[in-house]
Amino acid sequence: MARRAQSECSDSVLWVPVLVLTTVSALFHGPALSAHAWGSDGHHVICNIAEALLTEIAREAVEALLPDNADGNLSSICLWADSIKRQDGYRWSAPLHYINTPNGACDYKYIRDCRDDVIMPGFCASGAINNYTTQMDTDPDQHNLTEALMFLSHLVADIHQPLHVGFEGDRGGNSVDLFWYNTRTNLHHVWDADMITKSKNVNFGGDISRLTKALLKNITSVWKRDAKAWSTCGGGEIACPDQYARESVKLACQFAYPDARRGAVLSDAYFQTRIPVAHKRLAQAAVRLASILNAIYTEV
Ligand SMILES: *[C@@H]1O[C@H](CO)[C@@H](O)[C@H](O)[C@H]1NC(C)=O
Ligand SMILES: *[C@@H]1O[C@H](CO)[C@@H](O)[C@H](O)[C@H]1NC(C)=O
Ligand SMILES: *[C@@H]1O[C@H](CO)[C@@H](O)[C@H](O)[C@H]1NC(C)=O
Ligand SMILES: *[C@@H]1O[C@H](CO)[C@@H](O)[C@H](O)[C@H]1NC(C)=O
Repeated sequence: MARRAQSECSDSVLWVPVLVLTTVSALFHGPALSAHAWGSDGHHVICNIAEALLTEIAREAVEALLPDNADGNLSSICLWADSIKRQDGYRWSAPLHYINTPNGACDYKYIRDCRDDVIMPGFCASGAINNYTTQMDTDPDQHNLTEALMFLSHLVADIHQPLHVGFEGDRGGNSVDLFWYNTRTNLHHVWDADMITKSKNVNFGGDISRLTKALLKNITSVWKRDAKAWSTCGGGEIACPDQYARESVKLACQFAYPDARRGAVLSDAYFQTRIPVAHKRLAQAAVRLASILNAIYTEV
């Protein structure tokens, strides 16, 4: 679950109503207070595909920015932004992982929605993607580009998870407690992790690298034309996170929220109709992350 519940539960114990915390932990101990944005599988899939799609120049530039302990592997830094967001010195970054829209609003507006809980403008996934893209592209000497790369690689993934652009009132599905088959979880976590785990196990023999390969194959075959469109921004920008956000909240309204009321049991019918959407969002995120990095490093 992500960023939302984590930021609110950890940073804001002061104001999260005690009743909510007690109820959540009494009924749903565990799930509501753990986990990531896209699970670690989702992030690894996205970063591994993106790495495979980098141009030679971009690959070298990215490798030069990776911390030593990354072994030259982009996917090993793609969870960093989750790992630090509750640490002193980085709490400000927790709202960068998501966007809230008003309850029931299936559209996204930068001015209205891109802000953090204390109404700081720009402090949302979209503002942050622009921020770190600009740092890497136009202002390299002023910033820690290793951190910029680590934020960007994570947040481009997050903004593609439909429920990372969800309703404020249920924190993007984090407070929609329900069942995934017979396991207690919440709607947000179903999209971050449960569906991908199920797909990995049912369709790919439990091996996440086989899902990565299957998506990469589609990107270079049946989705080839789509992939070209995904990597292009309408106004010719390097990154267009407002567009990714608009797509996400639309998909949240079309696919994630329907049939997923509190207390619902989601199983085969939900999985089979939604997993194609989740797969495609992983592919889109990867293509766009690669195209952003490629554009940063091919421009003069
Ligand atoms: C990076 O590490 C992942 C495992 O997390 C592995 O599947 C992938 O092949 C590695 N990529 C490179 C380029 O070494
Ligand atoms: C932009 O990046 C800098 C460096 O990490 C950070 O201090 C600032 O808060 C970021 N702003 C947004 C909106 O992401
Ligand atoms: C840049 O950020 C990384 C990750 O937080 C840190 O390890 C490194 O020391 C920073 N580099 C500089 C020059 O501050
Ligand atoms: C790849 O594309 C095929 C044909 O459209 C589709 O059936 C399959 O589910 C896709 N694979 C993944 C992992 O999305």
